[in-house]
Amino acid sequence: MPDDRTPDSAPENDKPQLFIKTYGCQMNVYDSDRMSDALAPKGYETAKAPDAADVVILNTCHIRENAAAKVYSELGRLRILKEARLKQGRPLTIGVAGCVAQAEGQEMLDRAPVVDFVVGSQAYHRLPQLVERAKDGERLVETEFPTEDKFEHLPQPSKKVTLGRGPAAFLTVQEGCDKFCTFCVVPYTRGSEVSRPMHQLLDEARGLVDAGVREITLLGQNVNAWHGDGVGDAPSNLGRLLFALAEIDGLERLRYTTSHPRDMHDHLFAAHRDLDKLMPYLHLPVQAGSDKILKAMNRQHTAQDYLQLIDKLRDARPDISLSGDFIVGFPGETDEDFEATMQLVRDVGYAQAYSFKYSQRPGTPAAIQDTQVPEDVKVERLARLQALLNEQSRDFNAASVGKTMSVLLDRVGKRDGQLAGRSPYLQAVHLDAPMHLRGEIVPVVIEAAHANSLSGKLADISATDSLVKGDAA
Ligand code: SAH
Ligand code: SF4
Ligand code: F3S
Repeated sequence: MPDDRTPDSAPENDKPQLFIKTYGCQMNVYDSDRMSDALAPKGYETAKAPDAADVVILNTCHIRENAAAKVYSELGRLRILKEARLKQGRPLTIGVAGCVAQAEGQEMLDRAPVVDFVVGSQAYHRLPQLVERAKDGERLVETEFPTEDKFEHLPQPSKKVTLGRGPAAFLTVQEGCDKFCTFCVVPYTRGSEVSRPMHQLLDEARGLVDAGVREITLLGQNVNAWHGDGVGDAPSNLGRLLFALAEIDGLERLRYTTSHPRDMHDHLFAAHRDLDKLMPYLHLPVQAGSDKILKAMNRQHTAQDYLQLIDKLRDARPDISLSGDFIVGFPGETDEDFEATMQLVRDVGYAQAYSFKYSQRPGTPAAIQDTQVPEDVKVERLARLQALLNEQSRDFNAASVGKTMSVLLDRVGKRDGQLAGRSPYLQAVHLDAPMHLRGEIVPVVIEAAHANSLSGKLADISATDSLVKGDAA
């Protein structure tokens, strides 16, 4: 019989329950796992929803106005839950982490009384103390950039926890940004560029592979600016790091994101040429196709420079495909400038891409330009650009039909008896497959292309000569 005094939302055991909601980029996805790892030694388990949690953390994104606004609407919903929980006698502690936390700090506590603590991304190793103090009724802000290395202090997850997160893992190798593109908040929210040392990364990668991980995506706001201690006099760079990681037995696939065109160096091209394990797919944002706009954005390269990089990549790895990011309606963008972006997209031909309307971000130089583009113009340009990009990605997916591709089966599919995974080009692939293949890389014959995914069937292993591998499977 249920005990009348027990609230509906009480956990099944007495372990404290944690729910983290993640917004923004993959670096936040990685950080959310690190936050869970930081609290695990205190007994915290992962709750499935906020109403089952004792602590809710929103890991936020500040990149565009919409992203930041979503946080405040979620806090509105959490306020109602927090009040209900107080009446039930099971208090709820609410924290805000990530880039909005870093940008707003104390302002966030003032604006949203529901928030108990605010923590910037460089202080996640201090979470256990922060949460305890917040539970005792303090309201706290921790947004300094501490001198100690948080990665040295964050615990590694157990093998079981790592495996539970699936066979494809993220590994942050570099944080922050020194490039100061005039539209972007990242240098302010994430601080200046810091690279993690090579030995720390190799250890973490080995730990992941030991626990069953087959694919690692190296992350950084400027991942290809990563640098570390090298052999002899040569400082190490991301190309060399990829070569070192490729030596790890059992690690079958490598990726890295997000790269800046200015930091594409020779070792990276060599890695694309020589490493089968490095997937033939690269996210290389260009933002715009007009040199005038690229200059105003402080990207420090021309459209021609970018096209030359793409040629070099295709020389190194003929089967490589590209994805990118675009901003339309940057201050001062004329019809002619926008046409240059459309032309660049036609020249490159993207497998996939993300495109955004320029959003004025507080504290960035572009936000105070008096040449802002009217909203209706942005809307119209975005629609035209997205139509072109969607057509390119539909064509790319359609061209996959009939090919045999290697697929890392990382999750169960939507229907019974189905598994789903990712092709070398990060396309989602669904197929009927026995559950024991979950976590494996298998050859799949692609039979159909849908709006955002592919479907296929397990290939006859003996017929995999023409496999689109992109890996050593
Ligand atoms: N470091 C990466 C980008 C990180 S931000 C790079 O240099 O390419 C991810 C994407 O968000 C950017 O590529 C850009 O397309 C978009 N973005 C950033 N700031 C924006 C803004 N103010 N308005 C609209 N889109 C923006
Ligand atoms: Fe932002 Fe530019 Fe840095 Fe990318 S390189 S994170 S767009 S400032
Ligand atoms: Fe957003 Fe911060 Fe990532 S602003 S895109 S979560 S670095």
